[in-house]
Amino acid sequence: MNTEDLNTGRAAFVGDGPSIDMTAGEPASSLVGNDTPIAQQAAAALAAAGRSRVPMPRPESPRIMVVANQKGGVGKTTTAVNLAAAMAMGGLKILVIDLDPQGNASTALGVDHHAEIPSIYDVLIEGASLETVVQLVEGFETLWCVPATIDLAGSEIELVSLESREARLREALDEHVKSEPENYDYVFIDCPPSLGLLTVNALVGGNEVLIPIQCEYYALEGLSQLLKNIDMVRAHLNPELAVSTIALTMYDGRTRLASQVADEVRRYFGDTVLSTAVPRSVRISEAPSYAQTVMTYDPASSGALSYLEAAREIANRGVGINGTGNREQG
Ligand SMILES: Nc1ncnc2c1ncn2[C@@H]1O[C@H](COP(=O)(O)OP(=O)(O)OP(=O)(O)O)[C@@H](O)[C@H]1O
Ligand SMILES: [Mg+2]
Repeated sequence: MNTEDLNTGRAAFVGDGPSIDMTAGEPASSLVGNDTPIAQQAAAALAAAGRSRVPMPRPESPRIMVVANQKGGVGKTTTAVNLAAAMAMGGLKILVIDLDPQGNASTALGVDHHAEIPSIYDVLIEGASLETVVQLVEGFETLWCVPATIDLAGSEIELVSLESREARLREALDEHVKSEPENYDYVFIDCPPSLGLLTVNALVGGNEVLIPIQCEYYALEGLSQLLKNIDMVRAHLNPELAVSTIALTMYDGRTRLASQVADEVRRYFGDTVLSTAVPRSVRISEAPSYAQTVMTYDPASSGALSYLEAAREIANRGVGINGTGNREQG
């Protein structure tokens, strides 16, 4: 059964907020009748919660994934925070770096990011270490976030006059992630919708690029510019960098256009494209207004289940990846 349909049915009973208390301990089916929509929803939620806790394999060394696409609103932030939450639920140690002055990833993770909070700005501009700005995400034991505050809005200009302006994030990652591999299994860097110095810092600091592509008509427009920039960074600043993962987002199975775009992306990028496409889902878009990821907001929704599958796919592919985004030979 389509869990989104159940969600719609559920709203009439319990309102729009998250309704299943999975810490209550009592079987949901004993709280309500077995055959009501809410009972089925509760049972699905409990099953999903169980599935999301199945351990995921750890990579040999931390994988630093740059979530980038200069096109706005394609699902970069949504993909970064939900993959991160899904992997943390799977027992992995995860850091999300919010590199967008909009601070959407910080909001979605419920992390404080008002102007006075130590943030990624302090790292890039003041040379602070990541360790001093990282916050544990509430409700998780192994998910941390480096927030972005509004200060970051001016940083593209401030960076221009600083020494090693393209490599400032890399220096921080070298110190807190690469030389301390036990700190994290995955780092997700949520980039702003531009190819400016912030995105360049992410590409120089990371070892893999994850490109979310929205299944819409203009999806591929501008992608060649992104790939050209990635090639340039690889040639001059970060030879390790590889486009390892393409995620199809906001997939609407009812339209032919979505499947045509998906086919075209798969033809062009081959195996790099995750086999799980993330569907368009109301629950995914609602979650940030509750300062949550969809993984905790509604773990049984189709959106949460597909991000869980996508996370598992990335983690399984990560076995045998040597931390540079390249597969070991032989
Ligand atoms: N699978 C989905 N189903 C429904 N809504 C979605 C889905 N993925 C993302 N959205 C919504 O689409 C909008 C854009 O998503 P998101 O903020 O993740 O994109 P972005 O690429 O990070 O945007 P920006 O370029 O501004 O940083 C948001 O309102 C988000 O809630
Ligand atoms: Mg964003």
